[in-house]
Amino acid sequence: MFYQLAILFLAITVYSLPFTHVERVSIKGKVICGDRYSVGVGIQLCDGSDCLEKVTSSSPKGAFQASGNWSVFFSSEPSVLITHNCDVENRTKCLRQTRFPIHEWYVLKEENKYDRIYDMKLVQLIARQEKDEDGNESCE
Ligand SMILES: *[C@@H]1O[C@H](CO)[C@@H](O)[C@H](O)[C@H]1NC(C)=O
Ligand SMILES: *[C@@H]1O[C@H](CO)[C@@H](O)[C@H](O)[C@H]1NC(C)=O
Ligand SMILES: *[C@@H]1O[C@H](CO)[C@@H](O)[C@H](O)[C@H]1NC(C)=O
Repeated sequence: MFYQLAILFLAITVYSLPFTHVERVSIKGKVICGDRYSVGVGIQLCDGSDCLEKVTSSSPKGAFQASGNWSVFFSSEPSVLITHNCDVENRTKCLRQTRFPIHEWYVLKEENKYDRIYDMKLVQLIARQEKDEDGNESCE
């Protein structure tokens, strides 16, 4: 029984392999908090709840540029996760995380030889987003 199950899992794994593919995304923009540039906020690319380890920091003018890739089974749910202290209770203690979805049009597959950068232009962090970890700001 276990032997047959093992064979089955092996078969599923082998047959799934062709369905995994690599996707890549490039983004750029400027983060602002109200009418000020947000300096040194952390920007990460994510697929669902899995975020790439690389954290890009926004420049003194709020500018950022990041790219990343990941393996995908069937479909991906790419987003930009920004960790910042815009409009928090106490800017030295508290952090918020705001997530912006990335439209699939900006998601390139391995076979796409061209580049397509998602220019997010001005990213306003002050407003709470609907689908977000934003309800809970964490202070310590
Ligand atoms: C994915 O990105 C890493 C760098 O972060 C790079 O080394 C790797 O070659 C990339 N893989 C593909 C398939 O583009
Ligand atoms: C924010 O937190 C710091 C560190 O605990 C504290 O010194 C400061 O007074 C706090 N500021 C406000 C406005 O509460
Ligand atoms: C908000 O809460 C979620 C789930 O409890 C947690 O995973 C996330 O890290 C929290 N975000 C912040 C900024 O604390």
